[in-house]
Amino acid sequence: MSKKLWGGRFSKKTDPLVEEFTKSIHYDYKLAKYDILGSIVHVEVLGKAGYLKPQEVSKMQAALLKIGNGKFSPDMAHEDVHSQIQDSLEKQVGDLALKLHTARSRNDQVVFATKVYCKDNLAKVAVLGESVIDALKSLAKANSDIIMPGFTHMQHAQPVYLKDCLGAYAMMLEAGIDKVKIAASDIKLTMGAGAVAGTPIEAKHYNVSMDKYAKKLKVGLTGLKSEPTKNSIYTVSDRGFVAESLNVTAIMATHLSRFAEDLIIWSTKEFDFVDIDEAFCTGSSLMPQKKNADALEMIRGCAGRLYGNRIGFLAVIKGLPLSYNRDMQLDKEPLFDSFETLIKELKVLKGLVKTLKFNKDKIESQLDDESLYATDLVYYLVDKGVAFKTAHAIVGELVKYSIDNGIEIKSMTPHELSRFSDRFKNDEIIRLFDPKVSVESKRSIKRG
Ligand code: ARG
Repeated sequence: MSKKLWGGRFSKKTDPLVEEFTKSIHYDYKLAKYDILGSIVHVEVLGKAGYLKPQEVSKMQAALLKIGNGKFSPDMAHEDVHSQIQDSLEKQVGDLALKLHTARSRNDQVVFATKVYCKDNLAKVAVLGESVIDALKSLAKANSDIIMPGFTHMQHAQPVYLKDCLGAYAMMLEAGIDKVKIAASDIKLTMGAGAVAGTPIEAKHYNVSMDKYAKKLKVGLTGLKSEPTKNSIYTVSDRGFVAESLNVTAIMATHLSRFAEDLIIWSTKEFDFVDIDEAFCTGSSLMPQKKNADALEMIRGCAGRLYGNRIGFLAVIKGLPLSYNRDMQLDKEPLFDSFETLIKELKVLKGLVKTLKFNKDKIESQLDDESLYATDLVYYLVDKGVAFKTAHAIVGELVKYSIDNGIEIKSMTPHELSRFSDRFKNDEIIRLFDPKVSVESKRSIKRG
């Protein structure tokens, strides 16, 4: 085990099981770039506050940049990413590195690094989400003439445009991305909390514009600035930003899961509305004919995993007393998993959506089902002055008569129709059983 950041007070060695149990380097190494960014900013703060000479600032920042831009693999000899970076810095600049921790604690360091990690990954989710939306919109455009049965309760409801079904998912994702962006902008990169009580450094020194450092570290974020904490106890204690990141990613995963489910259903032999490209399917080791939409099933299932991450984390955090407690270290694995999983889902979906092929003939063959036009018949009667509820009851009876006697409404005689309402005119209602007439008669939709 490498030298501990806190070894001085201890005369005994840590029990190896405790060491193993409490370490986090095997996953928190993923914070390396963000932690180094925080350290570079902290070095600037130390310079402004007079704890470091200008040449010490440059030396330390250059060394930190070198570590940040090199290959950073976890070294299990260290407790966590912060310890490993400290150790690497000592190897580069010797004793000067011992000044880095002036007025700083891992308690605020980890919050800062995790916040930048969240901002970076929320931004990635937004960009990838937008690319899926673009793919959905192109697909909708390419199939803009297809009309399909709209479903409620998975039963035929009314004819709708396929482009509007795809657009519905695009809109869910847009709303999800709005929340992702809000979550990112709500995260404030506060510094100066120390372990819990603040530091002797004046608040004004913590205002640092971080863009030049982020650029050098190839962290793809702009407009980053650190600011002094308003309440150091809050800064080290709060994990609301983790909960919110887990929340918005879970909501995004929910939208993707529902879309995946529709595609799975639409691709079954029974529906045969859409063909999922082979590149996004897998086969069976036993049944040679199988082409299964496994990628979509994974997307459908992974939503559950993201909910688990969110609720598991909330359960860890609830009831924690102020301020920092080691339990909080358990936020990383669910957080990383949610982002990594969602990012993979979005990447897969982007490619999959681009290759979807809709079966226009099969979809439109479903539009012969007369029940899809029952509501249009109600509106027809309403337009002739019949009260909606009365019209609803009349058409309900008409549909029942049609089903019970196996007679299409379209082919009923004027006499048969007049038994339900004297307002029905055969030549007029016949025109209502037309998908295009049906969808175009809906005027409430303000398409963008
Ligand atoms: N690895 C810890 C975390 O992720 C930060 C270290 C704080 N440790 C401490 N003993 N104060 O939360």
